[in-house]
Amino acid sequence: MSRPYVIDQMISAKSIAARIEALARDIHDAFDGTDKLVVVGLLRGSFVFIADLVRELDLPVEVDFIEASSYGDGMESSREVRILKDLRGTIEGRDVLIVEDIVDTGHTLSHVTDYLRSRHPARLKTIALLDKPARREVDFRADWTGFEIPDAFVVGYGIDFAQRNRNLPYIGQVRFTDDA
Ligand code: PRP
Repeated sequence: MSRPYVIDQMISAKSIAARIEALARDIHDAFDGTDKLVVVGLLRGSFVFIADLVRELDLPVEVDFIEASSYGDGMESSREVRILKDLRGTIEGRDVLIVEDIVDTGHTLSHVTDYLRSRHPARLKTIALLDKPARREVDFRADWTGFEIPDAFVVGYGIDFAQRNRNLPYIGQVRFTDDA
């Protein structure tokens, strides 16, 4: 049986949209003049963010996806990240932007960044909508971050709790109602 919970809004849809507009301007400046930017979404959590972000980007873009999964045994440094689904296209010599929903321990984005950098893109940058620095286990920081948040259990805007709540238009915080 799953525990009962409610979701308190943490970041509104309006705040997310405003932040994405600003991030898109920064990305545009960083990649101005690119002949094609390959925007890589990290499945599954980034699917909402990437959809909104690319629609704010006034650049020639190609969209691709990669899926990674991390398996931990509780020992942080032994966390293993595996690629479950690879890119369809090639990125050698291309400009690449990896789009992630949240950086938590940092293992996933750090690993995927190294993995794609080994294919020799021209420029490779990373963006995460949310960052939880308090949870970091590896030294990694995305080039752009939407919001820094505390160590809270968040859902919505692509992020799930046991595969639910990804479709909320805002970022919410899970609060278990059976807590004392
Ligand atoms: C979540 C999230 C990030 C990753 C962050 O993905 O979407 O990809 O964990 O955690 P880390 O910084 O500790 O590595 P998850 O494995 O839950 O898959 P999902 O994207 O399919 O929800």
